[in-house]
Amino acid sequence: MNITEIFKTMEYGPAPESASAAYHWLETHGRRFGLFINGRFVEPSSEAHFESRSPATGELLAHVAQASQADVDSAVSAARQAQPSWESMGGAKRARYLYALARLVQKHGRLLSVLESLDNGKPIRESRDIDIPLVARHFYYHAGAAQLMEEQVPGYQAVGVAGQVIPWNFPLLMLAWKIAPAIAMGNTVVLKPAEYTSITALLFAELCVEAGLPPGVVNIVTGDGQTGSMIVSHPDVDKVAFTGSSRVGRIIREATAGSGKSLTLELGGKSPYIVFDDADLDSAVEGLVNAIWFNQGQVCCAGSRLLVQESVSETFYAKVKARMDKLRVGHPLDKAIDMGAIVDPKQLETITQLVSSNEHEGEVYRASCSLPEEGCYYPPTLITELSPSATLMQEEIFGPVLVATTFRTPSEAIALANNTKYGLAASVWTENINLALDVAPKVNCGVVWVNGANFFDAAAGFGGRRESGFGREGGREGLYAYLKPSRVQRALSPCPAFEGAGSALNEPASIDRTAKNYIGGKQKRPDGNYSRAVYGQDGALIAHVGEGNRKDIRDAVEAAHKAKGWGNKSGHLRAQILYYWAENLSARATEFTLRLMRVVGCDQAQATLEVESSLSALFKAAAWADKYDGAVHNVPIRGVALAMNEPMGVIGVACSSAQPLLGLISLVAPAIAMGNTCVVVPSEPYPLLATDLYQVLETSDLPGGVINIVTGSQETLVKTLSEHDDVDAMWYFGDADLSGQIEVAAAHTIKRTWCNHGKAYDWRELPQQEVLRHATEVKNIWVPYGEG
Ligand code: NAI
Repeated sequence: MNITEIFKTMEYGPAPESASAAYHWLETHGRRFGLFINGRFVEPSSEAHFESRSPATGELLAHVAQASQADVDSAVSAARQAQPSWESMGGAKRARYLYALARLVQKHGRLLSVLESLDNGKPIRESRDIDIPLVARHFYYHAGAAQLMEEQVPGYQAVGVAGQVIPWNFPLLMLAWKIAPAIAMGNTVVLKPAEYTSITALLFAELCVEAGLPPGVVNIVTGDGQTGSMIVSHPDVDKVAFTGSSRVGRIIREATAGSGKSLTLELGGKSPYIVFDDADLDSAVEGLVNAIWFNQGQVCCAGSRLLVQESVSETFYAKVKARMDKLRVGHPLDKAIDMGAIVDPKQLETITQLVSSNEHEGEVYRASCSLPEEGCYYPPTLITELSPSATLMQEEIFGPVLVATTFRTPSEAIALANNTKYGLAASVWTENINLALDVAPKVNCGVVWVNGANFFDAAAGFGGRRESGFGREGGREGLYAYLKPSRVQRALSPCPAFEGAGSALNEPASIDRTAKNYIGGKQKRPDGNYSRAVYGQDGALIAHVGEGNRKDIRDAVEAAHKAKGWGNKSGHLRAQILYYWAENLSARATEFTLRLMRVVGCDQAQATLEVESSLSALFKAAAWADKYDGAVHNVPIRGVALAMNEPMGVIGVACSSAQPLLGLISLVAPAIAMGNTCVVVPSEPYPLLATDLYQVLETSDLPGGVINIVTGSQETLVKTLSEHDDVDAMWYFGDADLSGQIEVAAAHTIKRTWCNHGKAYDWRELPQQEVLRHATEVKNIWVPYGEG
């Protein structure tokens, strides 16, 4: 082709990036890798290896070690040994190592990018300009986080040994998201890359040696899901962090249940991409390319569900199709392509199967661009005319397939956006900032991009809600995933209920002293019509309380769900109601003191202290109601990332028996201060402190349904709560066994849980900010600004 012809057609020629440095590096290792344990490469004990191939050509890149239980044991033991001195060297010293790692990632950026594209199939343009710079950014940011740790997160310490399992879509970036915050906060790690894409993690291991990182701080063990499961179930791992499919996330939730391990899950998504009729449609089309065809659509937060306002839908679809036809699909190392190869033939098969068996649900448009003849390629695809319940609208495809439907009004757009089990991200396109900022908080997810898609930065937290998982990575909010409170916790002492000695109520038999449940602001007889007796220390019968059952819990959840508008009230209003509650409780302080003495058997001084502490917890929660502010993150775009503390929604709260009044108020008051509604299961042996609160609540202007109380067997009631789809978080403060059962039950909906695993909490000393963090989830709303 001569120059005149090139000018006429404006055809792209190939612009291949050389892979020679990457091949040279692979050859220096004989294309065979061991495991990186305790600062050096070792052979796997079984000597087993598996193949890692390039998805673009099928070429064998290397043999990667398959770690066995013995290898995982030795990696965990190396991490355990290294942890105390790594933590005690202090944040400032650790910062130096993180900084060195950031510099080394930059120095070897080209090699890392080429290897990443070869191994994963992503365009070199993306690995070079997005993935690897973000990896370096993550280490820089967390070098700073280590430096400032003592000032920024006082009262917290490292969790210990972190077991981290990552996916194949952003191999090195996910590694950075996991390793940087973990080691910055003084933890040591055992990380397993995904089996399709282990190679850059092994090059990173070499960088750890070059940076002089003490042996055992970072250990990289390669292998398949079995190796992953050995890491997450290892008894000497204190914290598990996972990114991958919701299916495996659920398995890991179950595998770690009851172990007391701290857990964060970053799972799948089906993120809405909402286009309003006043949007800049051409920009929205470009944004869409970035949302769904970036990384071949293999992105957990891909804008994979297009919701477009009906009045512009035809125009918009036409523009999208025209743009799709211009996308260039080709070899990942070609610098001029838009889309590379799907990671593996198996993933290609998954995408093909899912689309072909459901494509009758809508109208399919495949881009007319050409695909390479061999290798794992799938064309950019748009499927319109889908109903909201269609399989392709609901299931994560994890490929370059965009599904679409239309809406008429903003409220319909929000309803459609939330019509999914996931809750990871959303994009909102409109020129009307009022509309954008109205919609953003209403979408149930962790990240919202206004007029954009897939903005990431180490300074802003990333993570989901619902079946997209829990926990945040990045930003200050992400540090807590690798921290625990420094206080020492002793074991919980059992608080058995007092036995009856056969004595009767003092009152005449005609007076019914059965405390009912409290649901939707009303006292309700338990559904099963059973009650249980509550005795004092002297064996005297004090009263009966309702024996709640599954139906009562379901009613209470429904009431709590209906009362969710509480979350939209101002912090000022919530504070006023909490102050009013405190005032009314204070007026009845003597009554509650006497009740505590009688029911719990404590002396007057203890009872008085508990009532006073409860009042102070209420005042504190009222104080926080309008002060637990979010943040404006300093991200490198012309715009802001607003980190908003949003309520979790409906929280199930099963209270401790130690300090039954204070234990309840210490949790419920901050929870409602943040705008949550609660279903409370009071202390089983001492439920009367909770049922006595009805009258106080009724006189405190608290809207019905914000606090619901169901008494009875904690074991029966909390399991129903933990499994319930409409309960957004579950808290439990009792024995270790039930803590584990709750975590198993919560796995079904991937619910965020807070259980004490049989450890005692001194409610008087618990910093309320810790409760507030459990009561909220951070949503990052990215708002770019400027006029061109
Ligand atoms: P996966 O969730 O099975 O694998 C992710 C990681 O978990 C890998 O390192 C794997 O070895 C490990 N793993 C697998 N089973 C495990 C277990 N029982 N315990 C501990 N670790 C385990 O993802 P896969 O099979 O590669 O992809 C399947 C689907 O998952 C994709 O089609 C996509 O829909 C979704 N996916 C979502 C990702 C996300 O970022 N949200 C990332 C990767 C996949």
